[in-house]
Amino acid sequence: MNQSTFAFPQDFLWGSATSAHQVEGNNVHSDWWAWEQAGRVKERSGLACDHYRRFAQDFDLAVELGHSAHRFSVEWARIEPEEGRWDDEALAHYVDVVRALRQRHLEPIATLHHFTTPQWLLEQGGWVNPKSVERFARYVGKVAAALGDSIRYWITINEPMVYVRMHYIQGLGPPGARDLTQSIQVIEHLIRAHAAAYPVLHSAPHAQVSIAHHMPAFRPCRRWWPWDRWVTSLTDQAFNWAILEALLEGRWSVPGLVSRRLPEARATLDFFGVNFYGRQFIRWVPKPGPWPAESCDLGHHPREVTERTSLGWDVHPESFFHVLSRVGRMGKPILVTENGAYMTDDARRWSYLRRHLEAMARATQAGACVIGYCYWSLLDNFEWADGYTPRFGLIEVDYATQRRAIRESARRYADICRTNRITLAA
Ligand code: FCB
Repeated sequence: MNQSTFAFPQDFLWGSATSAHQVEGNNVHSDWWAWEQAGRVKERSGLACDHYRRFAQDFDLAVELGHSAHRFSVEWARIEPEEGRWDDEALAHYVDVVRALRQRHLEPIATLHHFTTPQWLLEQGGWVNPKSVERFARYVGKVAAALGDSIRYWITINEPMVYVRMHYIQGLGPPGARDLTQSIQVIEHLIRAHAAAYPVLHSAPHAQVSIAHHMPAFRPCRRWWPWDRWVTSLTDQAFNWAILEALLEGRWSVPGLVSRRLPEARATLDFFGVNFYGRQFIRWVPKPGPWPAESCDLGHHPREVTERTSLGWDVHPESFFHVLSRVGRMGKPILVTENGAYMTDDARRWSYLRRHLEAMARATQAGACVIGYCYWSLLDNFEWADGYTPRFGLIEVDYATQRRAIRESARRYADICRTNRITLAA
C-alpha cells in the first residue's frame, strides 16, 4: 500500500479535554449536583476523579503523553456559590491550575460553562431567565480579571445546542424540561451570554474567543422518505448552522421557528471550536413533542451504520473530514475541542482516534485551517446521565483507589503528538 507522511502545521496544539463537573469531584453548588442528589440519575458524580486535588499529577501524565495543550473548564458554581458571593479560594484554585499548565508548557484552553449552572441561578429559572445573561457576564468578568493574562483560548459555552437538547428538550439534566418555547429562550440567552462575554474577555489583547460547537453530520434514517429528509435538513439548520450564523452575522434564524436580530452577537467568533463524534440519523415523528424529530435506533436503522462505539454511537471518520471541510470554508481557524470514543476494547479506541486524525489531516491538506486537536477525554470520567460506565479516557481511572493507568491508545496518540506527523494511506 502506498503511504505518505503528513506534517501538521508548526505549533499545532495537541492535547485532550476535560470538564470540571466530570472530573473534579464534589461540585456541590451546581445544579447537576442537586439533580443527582434528587435521584434523577442512576449514578452520582461524588468524588469523580478527584481532579480538583490531583490536577498537577494529571497534568504530569499529559506531559508524559506528549501533549502541548489542555482544555479544562472553570466551575461557575464554585466561584459564585451564592448569588453575588465570590469564593476567592476557588478563583485562586484556577489560577493554580493555569500556572500548573503553563509550567508544563501545556497551552490552557479554558471553558467557562460546560453544562453545569450554579444551583442558585437554576432556582431563579436558570437560562430561561433573561438575567442569566448579565449574571454570566459578571462571572466572566471575575474569571477574566484573575486569569485573563495567562489565557489565550477561551470557550464561553460548551455545546450550547447539546445543552439545550439535553436539559430543555429531552429532560435528561436539570431542570429536566421538555419544552420548545423554553428551549428557544435558552438558546437566545446563551447567544447573548456569549456576546456579552466576548468584549469582557477581549480586555486582554491576546484573547481568542469561541464556543465549542457540537457538529454531528445529520443524515435521514430513511433516505427515500421525504419527511425524514425534511426534518433532517431542518435539524441541521437549527442545530449546526443557525447559531454560527448568529455569532458571525448577528441574525438567528430557523425557518418557520425563529427569526431574530441579535446585533450584539455579530462577529464574536475569533476561531471555531468544533466537537465531533459521528453521524446522527434522524427521522420525523408525527406524535406531538418538543421537536418533530428523533434519532433512530442505530441497531436497526439505517444500513449505512457499519461501526458503532460501545455506547452505540455511529463511527464515521469520513464525516469528520466533511464537517471540518465545510466549517473550514467559513474562513476561520478551527480548533477541534472534542473528539473521542468509549470503546471497551482499547484497540478499537485507537482505531477510532487514528482514523479521525487521518481525516483531520486530509481536511487540512484540502485547505481547512485546523490549529489544534483535543481528544475527549484525558481521563475516564462522569458521563452525565450515563454515569461512570462509559470510559472515554486516554487514562483509565480506578474510581475506588483513584489510581491512574495509561492506556495503549494514549501511547500511540503520543507518537503523533510528539512527531507532529501522521502516516496516510495513499
Ligand atoms: C460531549 C460533552 C462532554 C462529554 C462528551 C462525551 O457532548 O461536551 O462533556 O460528555 O460529549
